[in-house]
Amino acid sequence: MKKLIIALDGYSACGKSSTAKLVAAQLGYSYIDTGAMYRAVTLYFLDNYVELTNPKAIKTALDKINITFEHNPLTQLSDTFLNNLNVEDEIRKMYISQNVSQVSAITEVRKAMVAQQQKMGKKRGIVMDGRDIATTVFPDAEVKVFMTADTVVRASRRQKELFAKDEIVDLDIIVENIKKRDNIDSTREESPLRMDKDAFLLDTTFMTVDEQVEIVLQLATSKMIAINKELGMVN
Ligand code: DC
Repeated sequence: MKKLIIALDGYSACGKSSTAKLVAAQLGYSYIDTGAMYRAVTLYFLDNYVELTNPKAIKTALDKINITFEHNPLTQLSDTFLNNLNVEDEIRKMYISQNVSQVSAITEVRKAMVAQQQKMGKKRGIVMDGRDIATTVFPDAEVKVFMTADTVVRASRRQKELFAKDEIVDLDIIVENIKKRDNIDSTREESPLRMDKDAFLLDTTFMTVDEQVEIVLQLATSKMIAINKELGMVN
């Protein structure tokens, strides 16, 4: 059975990662959170005072960054490591969200991350979420989904996630952050966030995570059947 590449792109905080994790678990695929990679780079840049307008400093910094994912047996989820240090909690904090879109708009940063993501997906059997997976990282992905949702609904979901990690943030601040990030992500020069022509549009405003997962699984199953038919394995 040919393993698929499933690309889940879309706006900030509309349920991409929750959906992607569960779809990957159901299919026995790997899940790759590309937003976590840009967040880890942002953390490194902030910690090391890397000037975002200095291409030489950016290149030197990128050469020193190693991002990996490791399974956490306690949470049964995958944690993000920056140079062998577990940064999973740190990169989800609000100060990272407030800086990540500026960092991820830098061409050199994108080139480095995209190359790493393409390497990670070589073995196929992956669910990757991000902003440019269907358009740039894996234009040949068999399943492409573009997720969106109402801004206030997204902000309140993000607020609950932050609250669960003891970070109390005003809803208005999160709404502003989401709008600003959406704007920077969609208008940047290098691979901006946009819906691929082959993508399925999924508006999650009134959906539960289980419903979102179900839809993506249906799309994946239909694709597998079509591929197997082409290969003459199914009538
Ligand atoms: O999915 P997220 O909110 O954790 O992503 C954080 C930021 O990283 C987001 O504002 C834009 C950027 N990003 C990107 O530019 N390309 C990706 N493939 C994934 C994330």
